[in-house]
Amino acid sequence: MKLEEFKPVTQYNAINWNEVSDMIDKATWEKLTEQFWLDTRIPVANDMDDWRELDDDHQWTVGHVFGGLTLLDTVQSEAGLTALKEDVKTPHETAVLNNIQFMESVHAKSYSTIFSTLNTPEQIKEIFEWSDTEEYLQNKAVKIANMYLDPSQDPLKKKVANVFLETFLFYSGFYTPLYYLGHNKLNNVAEIIKLILRDESVHGTYIGYKFQVGMRDRTEKQQQDMKDWMYNFLYELYDNEEKYTHLLYDQVGWTDDVLTFIRYNANKALMNLGQDPLFPDTASDVNPVVMNGISTSTSNHDFFSQVGNGYRMGAVEAMNDSDYDVKDPNAGKDINARD
Ligand SMILES: [Fe+2]
Ligand SMILES: [Fe+2]
Repeated sequence: MKLEEFKPVTQYNAINWNEVSDMIDKATWEKLTEQFWLDTRIPVANDMDDWRELDDDHQWTVGHVFGGLTLLDTVQSEAGLTALKEDVKTPHETAVLNNIQFMESVHAKSYSTIFSTLNTPEQIKEIFEWSDTEEYLQNKAVKIANMYLDPSQDPLKKKVANVFLETFLFYSGFYTPLYYLGHNKLNNVAEIIKLILRDESVHGTYIGYKFQVGMRDRTEKQQQDMKDWMYNFLYELYDNEEKYTHLLYDQVGWTDDVLTFIRYNANKALMNLGQDPLFPDTASDVNPVVMNGISTSTSNHDFFSQVGNGYRMGAVEAMNDSDYDVKDPNAGKDINARD
């Protein structure tokens, strides 16, 4: 690859939040910062009793579903948002994408929080080896990552890849925790997934919106070509996703239900991109237990929602001078002594 010649800038602009040209940037920033969360605040250990009741096949599916999700969130947090930041229309868009990029790192890390609670070190090692080598999982990760990593790729196609990942490809994995939540099992694990899902919902909507803004600058012919490419790419991803779903779910007998759910979400991804649905599946075709899992009041699937009730917020109070009276924990001790 030929390195582009560096052209020094002669001037740099400060970001001014008092002059926002696209109010969607501001609304999204507010939405995302309002729903900020961290994995370490969810008491996953409370799910141990439910976990022990699962047989080996179901435990395998849960562990490997989360391995797959870890890989996809890693792609987003690294190549994905780095690529999108190369093509912004406003400085506020960069700020929003910075927030999204950090949260993708939180998502990727939160599966490790779940693993460290539910799985043995040997199981965790096996899950990561599987994620880094499994054919159908690698297929989708690599297809999307190569869209991001190719500097000659159309930036609007990178946005399509992003929305397909956010709103479609995650959902074969999300099915499992939502299914258990619908059965009132693994509620804390599910709470983490719902917080992730709520973020992905905003991410998919926002990037889809930016795609639609970008499409306005294209000719009718270019727009048609983009649509043709998009539907082909979706078919290609769905074809792989079918195989991935069989691999994860045949042993527990959930495959057909998961496929309905992912077709429903593929349609939502197309909607985010301003396109017509491809599949006949609607919300009423999805397993009601899973839809129930999505819609429980704790957190919700809609763009303008509040921080989930199940998330433990710290009590916040204003700081005062006494907060700086930090006692030296080593006072009176030999500094080299070991406790
Ligand atoms: Fe994510
Ligand atoms: Fe995301």
